[in-house]
Amino acid sequence: MSERTLVLLKPDTVRRGLVGAVLGRFERKGLTIDALELRTLDGEMADRHYAEHVERDFYPPLRTFITSGPLVALVLSGDQAIEVVRTLIGVTDGRKAAPGTIRGDLSLSNRENLVHASDSPESAERELKLFFPDLG
Ligand code: CMP
Repeated sequence: MSERTLVLLKPDTVRRGLVGAVLGRFERKGLTIDALELRTLDGEMADRHYAEHVERDFYPPLRTFITSGPLVALVLSGDQAIEVVRTLIGVTDGRKAAPGTIRGDLSLSNRENLVHASDSPESAERELKLFFPDLG
């Protein structure tokens, strides 16, 4: 069954010139890009997106990082897209992520880990509405 998921190519992906490389992995997997936008988040949007993390110790530097420059927000769709995308990107810490995953191949950081993707149908619904409220 086709699903949609919200993906952010974080500011490190844009700064490092890896947008094409990361998008290409999703496209080659067979996922469809339903929407895509380059934008810079302000602090309020960061707090809304990361609402479940705002009280965590790691949040202040994460907020600084995620608002530090443009990112690419996009919607991907396909069969079991939420789980498929999470598997493609690998575990949060780029130092521990498996080779072959996006983070495992391209990130050496727990914070600057290139990509965010919705982790459940509930978070996908919330995040899709937050970033792309007009998507049908
Ligand atoms: P993401 O998948 O976007 O979800 C929350 C983000 O917080 C995560 O990717 C990392 O960028 C960041 N993060 C999570 N845990 C830590 C941590 N222990 N230290 C620093 N950053 C973290």
